[in-house]
Amino acid sequence: MKYVIKGGRELGGTVRVQGAKNSVLPILAASILANDKCEILDCPSLSDVKTTIDILKALGAKATYALGSVIVDPTDAFNNEIPECLMRKLRSSIVFLGAVTMRMGKARLSMPGGCLLGARPIDLHLKALKALGIKVKEEAGFIETDASEAKSAHVHLAFPSVGATENTILAAVKIKGETLITNAAREPEIIDLISFLNAMGARITGGGTGTIHIEGVASLRGISYRIIPDRIAATTYMCMAMATGGEIELENVRREHLSAITEELREEGARIEYFGERGYIRAPRRIKSADMIKTMPYPGFPTDAQSLFFPHLIKGDSTSVIVENIFENRFKIVEELTKMGADIVTEGRSAIIRGPRTLSGAHVYVPDLRSGAALLIAALSAQGESIVEDEGHIERGYERIFENITALGGDIRINNTADY
Ligand code: UD1
Repeated sequence: MKYVIKGGRELGGTVRVQGAKNSVLPILAASILANDKCEILDCPSLSDVKTTIDILKALGAKATYALGSVIVDPTDAFNNEIPECLMRKLRSSIVFLGAVTMRMGKARLSMPGGCLLGARPIDLHLKALKALGIKVKEEAGFIETDASEAKSAHVHLAFPSVGATENTILAAVKIKGETLITNAAREPEIIDLISFLNAMGARITGGGTGTIHIEGVASLRGISYRIIPDRIAATTYMCMAMATGGEIELENVRREHLSAITEELREEGARIEYFGERGYIRAPRRIKSADMIKTMPYPGFPTDAQSLFFPHLIKGDSTSVIVENIFENRFKIVEELTKMGADIVTEGRSAIIRGPRTLSGAHVYVPDLRSGAALLIAALSAQGESIVEDEGHIERGYERIFENITALGGDIRINNTADY
């Protein structure tokens, strides 16, 4: 996909924020633990969601997507293998490991794929499952599990990994007895998964704290459940307003999930207000640079948001620093922004952005999902025409981004002809 963008327009208007991608995926995995049908509302139409539906079908479940809802009927889910081609399409496919193991008694999955953000090991996932008495064998790129001796336990995570916390919850929810997860991730998507499971009849407390307590239940019933709003998609549109000097209203946001983002953007000069589930942002005339943004596990500044801040910080009144503490290799966007005229140097885990600079249109390539959205923002704020060339990363995480940018007044078209 080639997005052709003429930059320089202030974006303005209203956008409805999609349901959270990072909630949908573990919740769809959780649905195979139910006794009957689940309906998941406000599922964004994304290629990652479609891949997850394909995984559910490969397991034998019936899964359909229509009008923003996924209906999963797990009654006939008896397969315990996920084909390698599906596992490699998205990294979060690993979250199926706990759920499939406990539903079928055994699982065989290949190592997962996903964005190339440096080493993305799954040791914490496997260690947690082993602590629950699940036998885990790794062989030639495959993971095999056996739950015949699964038991409740105290699982301590060496790092509050989002995926490992989700996998542990999904493995433990039906194991008899009490499981305790300490140093658990506290992300809103974890709370969403727990709310979903509790609505199905699970007994889980402590979501949103570092200590999660699970009392195993024998069965889980099918339910209808609405996904929380996507806080990273909301951040994307807020950063779009910042970089283009515009004013955007967001529908379907939870201000409590956006605290770190709101605080940072206000320090940079933005005017931000919330009214119930609506948010409003107006960019300042002059953007104040960020002394130091450090990505941290929730409730800290999210790693998924850092690349989205580059386009407006390039316009900042002096030097900004972004420190990436979660992933090893998450500054691939810098090379592309440099082509557009940015002055950014990276040193290990830090990126130093020297402002103020004006970006110029260029032909850039999308290295990963969030960088893709950030490059669209950079192109919208640049002088002249840009081509943002993407091999499918953006549609993994953003629903209707092209339509939304158009509705906000951005000059964007899609051109896939060879001369571009
Ligand atoms: C999830 C999000 C992703 C976000 C990330 C951090 C989904 C689908 N994806 O990814 O968008 O960027 O949280 O907020 O929800 N680690 C290990 N061993 C493990 C697991 C993780 O060392 O077994 C390390 C990772 O390499 C990384 C850090 O822990 O450095 C955080 O990873 P984790 O929280 O697990 O991220 P994901 O669940 O993969």
